[in-house]
Amino acid sequence: MSDHSGVPSPGTPPPGCPAHASAVRLGGVEHQQSHQLYRTLRREHGAVAPVLLDNDIPAWLVLGYPEVCYVTSHDELYARDSRRWNQWPNIPEDWPLLPFVGYQPSVLFTEGAEHQRRAGVITRALEGVDQFELASECEAIAEQLITSFAGSGETELMSTYAHALPARGVLWMCGMPQGSEDTEKLVDDLRISLDAGEGDDPVAAYMRVGARLTQLVKEKRQAPGPDVTSRMLLDDAGLSDEEVVQDLISVIAAAQQPTANWIGNTLRLLLTDERFAVNVSGGRVSVGDALNEVLWLDTPTQNFIGRWAVRDTQLGGRHIREGDCLVLGLAAANTDPQIWPESHVGAENSAHLSFSNGEHRCPYPAPLLADVMARTAVETLMEHLPDLVLDVAPTELTWRPSVWMRGLMSLPVRFTPSVR
Ligand code: HEM
Repeated sequence: MSDHSGVPSPGTPPPGCPAHASAVRLGGVEHQQSHQLYRTLRREHGAVAPVLLDNDIPAWLVLGYPEVCYVTSHDELYARDSRRWNQWPNIPEDWPLLPFVGYQPSVLFTEGAEHQRRAGVITRALEGVDQFELASECEAIAEQLITSFAGSGETELMSTYAHALPARGVLWMCGMPQGSEDTEKLVDDLRISLDAGEGDDPVAAYMRVGARLTQLVKEKRQAPGPDVTSRMLLDDAGLSDEEVVQDLISVIAAAQQPTANWIGNTLRLLLTDERFAVNVSGGRVSVGDALNEVLWLDTPTQNFIGRWAVRDTQLGGRHIREGDCLVLGLAAANTDPQIWPESHVGAENSAHLSFSNGEHRCPYPAPLLADVMARTAVETLMEHLPDLVLDVAPTELTWRPSVWMRGLMSLPVRFTPSVR
């Protein structure tokens, strides 16, 4: 409601604000058909749609490929420090998205020269990872995991394989000894803190992850090794121990879930698409093609929150107000009909926005390392279980109820049991 002065009364969204009546609740989306939702939103609202996050908090969903590129490459207009959000007075303490938008002094929320300093350290530390060594380490991890279920002739691949492998791969890169009890405990705490199940305590698990990584930083300060943590500590930028711990948590969390879902979504494609024949090893399309197709069509980070408007601007014909939140619609942008006029999506190139774009994009060596982990995971599984097939009808596979991460609830498979 507005009085006659034209000034909205308190609690009423001003015209053009994403809280207006036509805004779509992102939380209530039917997840099996998110592509359909993006099509509808684009048709009804154009490239920038008003949406409502949990508790009906307004935001903008940027759906257009050129618009996502514009937002991510104009930090002076759309920046990462979430403290400028104009919705903070309306955010409850237990808001479900708080872990993603609550400001932390990590690389994720820094801007300008400070971001370059922090992201530079991560980039150089990741560049030091030997990709061949990472591949052979991931192959060993894959074989151990396969051994644990090979004798039974069936398994649920999301929990026993797709999530389990990158967690161990990333911790190995950071200098945690592979296979030790200590590392396994950290793997478990990571799982609980990123993806809590029934009866889990994610906050307690997150505290334990922080404590173990603080200890790792102390150990590496005293005895550096050929790992990401030591390289971050030894970098000329001179990060403090606290900064390294913060950024190590960001690296591990940013790596684990998307890589796990990249593996899961690729296995799903290989097991359900007729181009890959009855079983994955008999297909006519390579694992590399499948990995790339997933990034175009079923990208793990579907939507990313986000950017915050530095000042009033225009975007896709919308008036964006200072402090508004913009969600990067990466999945929608990848399938934007403006870049796919023939409605055929899935190029062999890698011009998708799955790793985002601009200053805050997934830091350059990370996509390559994720590719090594995902490719090794899929290929090793196919090699060891060549007659792997889906154990349910493809239509029974369900996506997780999240608009942020696109990943399967479960991926049940069967194969000829083998003693290894
Ligand atoms: C080795 C595996 C990976 C590592 C170490 C890693 C690391 C990171 C880090 C540190 C950031 C924060 C960058 C910043 O704010 O400056 C980031 C952002 C991001 N990463 Fe990754 N990542 C990995 C895998 C992936 C995968 C597999 C995907 C998706 C397919 C992905 C998608 C993204 C996206 C969408 C962002 C957000 C960028 C933005 O704010 O615009 N990452 N990653």
